[in-house]
Amino acid sequence: MADALVLFGATGDLSKRKLFPALYRMELHGTLTVPVVGVARVDWTDEAFCTHARDSVLAAVPDADPAVLERLLARLDLIPGDYADPATWTALAAALDGHDSCNAVFYMAIPPSMFPTVAHSLASVGLNDRGRIVVEKPFGRDLASANELNDTLHTVFPEERIFRIDHYLGKESVEDLLVFRFSNTLLEPVWNRNYVRSVQITMSETIGVEGRGSFYDGVGAVRDVLQNHLLQVLALVAMEPPAGPESGFLQDEKGKVFAAMRPIDPTALVRGQYVGYRDEPGVAADSTVETFVAARLEIDSWRWAGVPWYVRCGKGLAANATEVVVEFREPPSMLFDEAGGPPPHRNLVRFRLGKHDGVTFTLQAKTPGPHLDSQDVDVSVDFAAALGERREAYERLLDDALAGLPRRFAREDIVEQTWRVAQPALDVPGSVHPYFRGSWGPAEADRILCGDTWFPPSG
Ligand code: BG6
Repeated sequence: MADALVLFGATGDLSKRKLFPALYRMELHGTLTVPVVGVARVDWTDEAFCTHARDSVLAAVPDADPAVLERLLARLDLIPGDYADPATWTALAAALDGHDSCNAVFYMAIPPSMFPTVAHSLASVGLNDRGRIVVEKPFGRDLASANELNDTLHTVFPEERIFRIDHYLGKESVEDLLVFRFSNTLLEPVWNRNYVRSVQITMSETIGVEGRGSFYDGVGAVRDVLQNHLLQVLALVAMEPPAGPESGFLQDEKGKVFAAMRPIDPTALVRGQYVGYRDEPGVAADSTVETFVAARLEIDSWRWAGVPWYVRCGKGLAANATEVVVEFREPPSMLFDEAGGPPPHRNLVRFRLGKHDGVTFTLQAKTPGPHLDSQDVDVSVDFAAALGERREAYERLLDDALAGLPRRFAREDIVEQTWRVAQPALDVPGSVHPYFRGSWGPAEADRILCGDTWFPPSG
């Protein structure tokens, strides 16, 4: 268990939106027991830092318990200073000494370009021997830079002390993919190319880039979510059962999925950009960065060969939803139905991973009346209603980072494999097609479907 949490980028956007609210919830749930030392390039007093932290919590949790909030604020220290200034690092080491810390978590909520500086500076004052680092995404910009970043970090921290964040791995609904698949016997016999016709993964957001234009315009949808969130979700749906509970077995199985996956075929890739994106603050007037991407992927394994995996994600779309839809093959026509009615529809299993998470099975049931026809019926569960409160991703990930549990973080080889799969989308991106906000992206996205249609997310 770590004995201190150091937050680089403590006055930045991620800390404000996600980390302080998560720390508040940890305090509320009694899992935050260590001092929290913020480091930031600001000229702030401790008091100003506490005000910032309080405002950040209240923006996300307006009914925060004042006593819990005060307890959190009492844990905070700030080391203001430039990351390039050695004095910042001696001050940090002294602050940790003051807390008798010899095993800290160093959380890098900072721009990726700063990761190497911070890692080397930690080593310059011997702090790399006294803890582990948590690295936010994006981890690299492509395969080469991810390799390079891994090499740099490994000169300072061993792999088992590098925790790479993909906050989707902290979501209960995403972890449920694994549990649902492997704890329901009825699924496993049909979870393969003999029964599954296609799999679709959609992550759609109604918001645009919302003030993050200058960040987003250097990134785009492929780097922002396809290479990480979508491929991590895909791996959980496609993988074989891990050999045991240790994190390494889970990572091994994900690795096998990607190893069996060809890099994205540029002819099965469509990029889009919402109309108005180029007018967003921070976005280049002639930007060709994509705010939407759709791709058809394949996995050359005994389980999945021949099954298309369609993935799409975008901003400014018609609905907020993250879903996986597994479409099963058609049943044979109902020869006993003398009236020659419509053939039964295909079954679907729909995993809702977003706000209203749950699972829906679309099955066939007899249409009332004289004929033996069938129609769709949904058998659905809403997890919040059925299972009660679940914790937020960042709270769970911070808990794990402090406890030193690597299972919900991305291993080096997995990150590199996902970049290998995504790389052609960066090298041969093709043109970017405009689409209107509130639509489902450019119509061109339909061309990657092999005679299939996109399933509209159910929300
Ligand atoms: C982040 C992306 O990783 O995930 C954002 O950088 C995106 O662009 C966000 O909006 C979506 O996360 P969630 O948890 O709201 O689905």
